[in-house]
Amino acid sequence: MAQQRLDKVLADLGIGTRKELRERIRAGGVRIDGVVCTKPEQKVDPELQRIALDDRELCYKSLRYFMLDKPTGVLTATEDRSQPTVLDLLPAELRRLGLFPVGRLDKDTSGLLILTNDGEFAHRVLSPKSCVEKRYYANIDGEVDEADIAAFAAGIRLRDGTECLPAGLESAGPGKCFVTVREGKYHQVKRMLASRGKPVIALRRLAIGNLSLDESLGPGGLHELDETDLCKLFTMDFGEN
Ligand code: URA
Repeated sequence: MAQQRLDKVLADLGIGTRKELRERIRAGGVRIDGVVCTKPEQKVDPELQRIALDDRELCYKSLRYFMLDKPTGVLTATEDRSQPTVLDLLPAELRRLGLFPVGRLDKDTSGLLILTNDGEFAHRVLSPKSCVEKRYYANIDGEVDEADIAAFAAGIRLRDGTECLPAGLESAGPGKCFVTVREGKYHQVKRMLASRGKPVIALRRLAIGNLSLDESLGPGGLHELDETDLCKLFTMDFGEN
């Protein structure tokens, strides 16, 4: 990696604003390869040099991945003139990382959304070739029956003629069901259930691949994903709702 200014490298880690970090550097809180550096403009290569803040060594990662429990009422977008977006939910220091949502949930859908600044990773998750499953919990008007389950398993044809890949459907009692799909067509789950006369009242994404939503996060809650979490995205048990 090319050398960059020390204050920029620290700010890119999302651990403070550039102004705050300059002050901490000038105050002697930062060491490069064990030597105190008080110059914010000092050029460093974070992949080759050890940087420590307040005696804690920092792990430089330019690519970052987060799980968000998207609340309803928020757009899956990076910016919008009039409505709040998922990026507005992030603390200021993370907003500077260039994160964007992987795929999209409707404004009135809640649940698991991944945010990253890794374009290749996002492409891999979203590519139809990856066949990554997404599992949803839906509140519906009606109750799922055996004919609905069989129709989902065979592949639903939407009202406009669009053919969907075979999908999983499981009743969770009157007015409730689980749906597992392998693609991401516009309003897909809502349109699939509507085509069976079971309109969706509320929809929540519970998992992508084998990565489950951390329900302890709560609406708008966020946590960083590690390599083990990321591997779970690409492992699946399709059909085992
Ligand atoms: N399917 C939908 O209909 N809406 C979503 O937000 C996600 C999947």
